[in-house]
Amino acid sequence: MIVKKIGILGGTFNPIHAGHLHIAQAAYEEFALDEVWFLPAGIPPHKDVADSVTTTQRVAMVQQAIAFVPYFKLCDIEIRKTEPCYSWMTLKSLKETYGQDCEFYFIIGEDSLLTFAHWVKPEEICRYCRILVARRPQVQNEAALTEEQFQQQLIEYRKTYQQSFDAITAAPLDISSSDIRAAFHKGDVCSVRSFLTDHVYDYILDHHVYQDEYALSMIAPMQKRLEQQLKPGRFWHTIGVMYTAGNLAYVYDYPYTNAMIAGLLHDCAKCLSDEERIAICRNQGIEIKAIEQKHPHLLHGKVGAFLAERDFGISDSQITHAIAVHTTGCVGMSLLDKIIFVADYIEPHRDKAPRLDQIRQMAYDNLDECVCMILEDTMTYLGKHPEDMDETTCQTYAYYVNTKKENQWK
Ligand SMILES: [Fe+2]
Ligand SMILES: [Fe+2]
Repeated sequence: MIVKKIGILGGTFNPIHAGHLHIAQAAYEEFALDEVWFLPAGIPPHKDVADSVTTTQRVAMVQQAIAFVPYFKLCDIEIRKTEPCYSWMTLKSLKETYGQDCEFYFIIGEDSLLTFAHWVKPEEICRYCRILVARRPQVQNEAALTEEQFQQQLIEYRKTYQQSFDAITAAPLDISSSDIRAAFHKGDVCSVRSFLTDHVYDYILDHHVYQDEYALSMIAPMQKRLEQQLKPGRFWHTIGVMYTAGNLAYVYDYPYTNAMIAGLLHDCAKCLSDEERIAICRNQGIEIKAIEQKHPHLLHGKVGAFLAERDFGISDSQITHAIAVHTTGCVGMSLLDKIIFVADYIEPHRDKAPRLDQIRQMAYDNLDECVCMILEDTMTYLGKHPEDMDETTCQTYAYYVNTKKENQWK
């Protein structure tokens, strides 16, 4: 029987970065492994998962990072557990499940090597797998083991645990997940851009992973204010959009308070007259297209984005952008743009559009496909009402039809 050699690389992966991929690749090459399994921690007993990142987001980032390397796999055994689990439990369970066909190599860092004897049941871990140790980067002013001390430690552990402890010799990369998170929080992402794969970088931005979420308590006063400003029908529509956006945010892993605020404010400029909307655009240097000049109600997205910032104190650019483009969509919509665009169309008070049932169902199955369906129906509607046709809607439609063909969502 052919026994597969499997490396196991655990971590919180918050987020997964080039340092993780480098260690996994080095282990794969130096020990002729068949595969390396990335094991995102569920609820680590000894480490806090920082920030408001969700488990789904951490796992999605791992999937994005390893998608193009055929011998890198996701192992989701820990995240499916409802209780904190220790490494020995996970490795025992892997050995019991795959033991006949697989030989496991548990990859740990030098920091973990130093504390290994104090882990829960280290002898159990060594029953189920060999240990590979990645050296830590040499950082100035920080105590690190000399090469001699490091090798000595490996020898001692081999004796103590009767298992092989081997060093991964590739030089480690000096990258930390906490520095990456801090850079995103500061908005200074250039310094960490090269540490992330393109897909992980895009995922972090699109899902707002390391940016602050507004407090839920902000919603009630905004709601009160809008109730006074909007006509009742419009007000209840915005409440419907707010809750629908919150639901979609849960499904697609976007900060839900931010999505709810975008939904709540998306039509806030509906309380203004056409003249007032045009005046704001003129004063603020907001472009007015010919179709908007003719039908100033089309400006309520752009003006709403301005009011959200000026009158409601919303400085988050993803929220204001989603408000600005909610009527027409735009080429390359962000996740929040799509959530608001869809929520506006499907919220519970809507009852006139055709095939609403299917569109509502699709909203929760495949957001991109749902955007496409809405654009398709909007184009059909605008075909019959050409006077309302905004060319941005046509461009958005053409873009998503093309993207759909390329990605073959169906
Ligand atoms: Fe609107
Ligand atoms: Fe609306």
